[in-house]
Amino acid sequence: MPIELYRDGQHACLMFTDLVEEDNQAVQANQFLIVDNGTGAVIDPGGNLAFNELFLGMSRHFSPQKLSYIIASHADPDIIASLDRWLTSTPAQLVISRVWERFVPHFTKVGKTDRRVIGVADAGGRLPLGRSELWLLPAHFLHSEGNFHFYDPVSRILFTGDLGVSITSGRDAQVPVTDLGKGHLRLMEGFHRRYMVSNKVMRLWVRMARQLDIRMLVPQHGAPLEGAAIGQFFDWAESLMCGIDLFDEKHYQLPTAAIAVPAKAAPAGVA
Ligand SMILES: [Fe+2]
Ligand SMILES: [Fe+2]
Repeated sequence: MPIELYRDGQHACLMFTDLVEEDNQAVQANQFLIVDNGTGAVIDPGGNLAFNELFLGMSRHFSPQKLSYIIASHADPDIIASLDRWLTSTPAQLVISRVWERFVPHFTKVGKTDRRVIGVADAGGRLPLGRSELWLLPAHFLHSEGNFHFYDPVSRILFTGDLGVSITSGRDAQVPVTDLGKGHLRLMEGFHRRYMVSNKVMRLWVRMARQLDIRMLVPQHGAPLEGAAIGQFFDWAESLMCGIDLFDEKHYQLPTAAIAVPAKAAPAGVA
């Protein structure tokens, strides 16, 4: 069941948190549907694991034939690997960074992306949606080279993709965090240190994001942040050393350790 992050007579934001079965092979991921005056957009619809459930779940709220956009923060498999199926099942156009525009056709059958990709320049912009608009904010290198966040001025939700994530279960992802205590930071820290590119871009991003009026900050993995947790996240993010800040010559040595290769289970019928 989706969580309603916002709803009024003309506008709704839904979050799906538990479409991918939790078997420890695939990381928990959130998918989002925004509807304004009968027009819809899916944000970061995910991979093939999420497609069937999201498509069915979405159809309960909204006709897939009225889907205008598939909006991708970046081009990772957990963001957009289901692209072929979305382009087949809806008339929507893909909105993605120009950095990835010519790479995403590799996710689809030949010709599927013809005239269906809106490549967005590094500066971002305001995308019309129904009678409203979504703001595409530059978030490059957090973590992907071409990366956008999405601000919805009606609900005042900032969708932050892989920034602000916590590694947790689909159930825990349903409960907004209001205080960024040690327990929650422990679920965030390892991911941000390794996946975010540098403290410089974290600080540039925080300076931009502080100018927004944000009711909820919603990442693609784990729980939304609201109330005091939003300012606490900004403070934490702008002081975090991460990515290339932490890498030096000892991380670039010729390897000596053998990679452990587990024995494969024999396919059925093979002696
Ligand atoms: Fe990613
Ligand atoms: Fe992700």
